[in-house]
Amino acid sequence: MNAVQENDTLAKLVALCKRRGFIFQSSEIYGGINGFWDYGPHGVAMRRAVEQAWWRYMVEQRDNVEGLDSTIICHPKVWKASGHLDKFSDLMVDCMECKKRFREDQLETPGVCPACGAKKLTEPREFNLMMKTYVGPVFDDEHVAWLRAETCQPIFVDFDQVRVASRQKLPFGIAQIGKAFRNEINPRFFTFRSREFVQMEMEFFCRDDEAMTWYDYWKEERWKFYTQVLRIPENRLKIHPHDKLAHYAKAALDIEYDFPFGWGELEGVHHRGTWDMGRHSEFCGEEQKYFDQERNEHYYPTVVETSCGLDRICLALLCNAYDEDTAPTKKEGMDEDVRVVMHLPALVAPVQVAVLPLSRKLEEKAEPLYKDLKRFLRAEYDVTGNIGKRYRRQDEIGTPFCVTVDFDTLNDQAVTVRERDAMTQDRIPIDQLKAYLLERVV
Ligand code: GAP
Repeated sequence: MNAVQENDTLAKLVALCKRRGFIFQSSEIYGGINGFWDYGPHGVAMRRAVEQAWWRYMVEQRDNVEGLDSTIICHPKVWKASGHLDKFSDLMVDCMECKKRFREDQLETPGVCPACGAKKLTEPREFNLMMKTYVGPVFDDEHVAWLRAETCQPIFVDFDQVRVASRQKLPFGIAQIGKAFRNEINPRFFTFRSREFVQMEMEFFCRDDEAMTWYDYWKEERWKFYTQVLRIPENRLKIHPHDKLAHYAKAALDIEYDFPFGWGELEGVHHRGTWDMGRHSEFCGEEQKYFDQERNEHYYPTVVETSCGLDRICLALLCNAYDEDTAPTKKEGMDEDVRVVMHLPALVAPVQVAVLPLSRKLEEKAEPLYKDLKRFLRAEYDVTGNIGKRYRRQDEIGTPFCVTVDFDTLNDQAVTVRERDAMTQDRIPIDQLKAYLLERVV
């Protein structure tokens, strides 16, 4: 695909997301607000499924990772200690001709405005990305607070409370899923760079001499999550080791996805040394050290972090799923032979099974079947329009299985299960349907 076709793919995906209720602009009736996105019924179902898959994989299936759900607003000193208030900024330039603002590091030609081509750019200036608010009735400097820019800082702050409550010993991790806010200067590429987004982070606390072993372990585990749990093909992903490291870090890498607009970061796996625990100790005035009984020693735990963005993972899944195939849809009652289909993995598809009675006269049989399936799967019921159009709608949502109830069902107590990708149709006895589907949606 060339660049024009690839951008075309993103434009088509954006249109599909709006049409089928995945993702649309926030506050659209007021003209929208740049960098903020709402997830509609199908989007939220998918996003929750991805989030659940991450939580299950990172927390519930392990004995050495605990969960946390902290507040979005923390004590302002948290952000002083983390360095965000002093250093979390981008260098920006303004075009004196067209008045647009750009990140200096994203200029294609240094000194030239990418919008109007003028060579009249201001000197670079620093813009902090933290979002400001006030706590309490008075809007003055004393009451300033910040919306968290990453979910990991409260994990460091709460380390000891979680350790005591969970009776964990090193090595162990703390995971959190939640909103993060960044005043991005150039939100772009649909949800890829947003100003409000969800992070899924896990901080693994360990001994310094074991940290590189854990770093390799988590790198493997995170790769498996993308390729085996979310089934993203390996050739659409790559690991990008960092050339430059923070002074306290021993290793860092990004896991990237091949988006229509180029390779983009989904996740960072970072060795963070003892930096975070040391900084919070310094700023709160109390040493956040761990007492290692085996070694009879107090020390700061070393941290290995896995940090990913839920919205970016969803975008990668949507980009990977989008397809226009020339399937023989004529036999399904449609004139066109090109169908838009989302090949989403069944685990995260917003609708896992759609129940489609061929006629309203079959509702008495179809509805109880649907209600029963809904107890175990994300299910939808659709009785309107010809069957071809209903299949087409489910293809665009990414529904892996459509169950058709027809007049034969009344005699043979069986239904037709149409599989989205191969478009095969199997006749399955109703009493085996649940097992048949459950086996295929994991
Ligand atoms: N605690 C480390 C940390 O926050 P980061 O690379 O700044 O590291 C981690 O962010 C992940 O959060 C990224 O890999 C990305 O998936 C997601 N993310 C960061 N900024 C984002 C934005 N503006 N919009 C959407 N996702 C973002």
